[in-house]
Amino acid sequence: MPYAHITGWGMAVPNKVLTNDELSKMVETSDAWIRERTGIRERRIASDSETASALGAEAAFKALSMARLLPNQVDLIICATSSPEYIFPATASLIQDKLGASNAGAFDLLAACTGFIYALDMAAQSIRSGALKTVLVVGAENLSRYTNYKDRNTCILFGDGAGAFVLQASEKPGGVMRSVLHSDGSGGKFLFVPASGSHSPASEDTVRNGLHFIHMDGKEVFRFATRVMAQATLEAAEKSGWKPDELSLVIPHQANIRIIEAAARGLKMPMEKFFVNLERYGNTSTASIPIATVEAVQVGKLKPGDKVVFVGFGAGLTWGALAAEWTGPILPERTIRAEWFKPFARVRSLLRRLLRMLEGILFGREP
Ligand code: ACO
Repeated sequence: MPYAHITGWGMAVPNKVLTNDELSKMVETSDAWIRERTGIRERRIASDSETASALGAEAAFKALSMARLLPNQVDLIICATSSPEYIFPATASLIQDKLGASNAGAFDLLAACTGFIYALDMAAQSIRSGALKTVLVVGAENLSRYTNYKDRNTCILFGDGAGAFVLQASEKPGGVMRSVLHSDGSGGKFLFVPASGSHSPASEDTVRNGLHFIHMDGKEVFRFATRVMAQATLEAAEKSGWKPDELSLVIPHQANIRIIEAAARGLKMPMEKFFVNLERYGNTSTASIPIATVEAVQVGKLKPGDKVVFVGFGAGLTWGALAAEWTGPILPERTIRAEWFKPFARVRSLLRRLLRMLEGILFGREP
């Protein structure tokens, strides 16, 4: 049975920074309150062109370069997102087109902020089964588009960004170990976007009443998160045969520093073992874990051979954790700049559209 190794990683965040002080001019809040209650100092906000798929593709190009792979070597793209560009087509398909990943299947996975853990687990299972060799997992968000900047309860929390991992099959033991995935739909209303789905399609009323924005009962989500984070981390570690004190690092969903501190207390682990960068990005939902991972590697907190647990929670309610032995690239040293293929991907996409148009003209549109 092949093992599933994480061999590439990348991130992309918008240039525009929205600070707490700027927010305090929009709603009744203050830098001091936000920092004390959440740990967040600033977050990134996407421009019109920095769509979820644009950010996702940028992160994916970097992850492919790190893994020394070309886009056409990817078998499957899973995009976990809480802010897809459309209900359909899947944001994963838009990313596939932007990459020119001509041999890849693509689909979106919705498990809110836990989505990246779910997607990693699905990717690892497909590789371990022998069905696939290379899977790209992307977490990509434009949460600012769903955020009501008149609601101080939510607008202080969320930011935009994307992160990506490449998972590859290898006979070498290690890589993704075991994971746990949970859901409790009875808490669905604690964190939701009331309209846009088939339950409440867009109407004048839904727009007037702000039902296309994120609605949240912060206290309930906080209580739930502090209850499940430590438990899920422990479950994934134990299923992998590890004790908590064997863990080199925990990379938690970056929602609120107080939630992460509660998890550390629950696990009786020092905060130094938890990677935190939420002060600069806020809660980027599915992108928060891969963005934190990229930065953990950059600062030397995560090295090959380390035992790491990724743990998340979010709307659904959902929560989960995944244990992995950190690998790093498995292909021999060689320089691959997957980003250089961006222009080819664009030309490929244009040619495919042109060809479809020509076919329509030549053969008509009747089947
Ligand atoms: N600025 C200033 N005051 C505020 C703000 C604000 N932005 N927001 C609330 N307050 C006030 C409240 O009105 C309240 O005042 P009152 O005591 O006079 O009524 C007081 O501050 C305390 O409010 P609480 O809601 O008790 O504040 P709390 O400490 O719970 O912090 C927060 C609120 C930050 C939202 C916290 O509950 C939280 O982080 N919850 C989890 C949210 C989360 O992680 N969501 C994402 C999940 S992942 C996903 O799927 C997207």
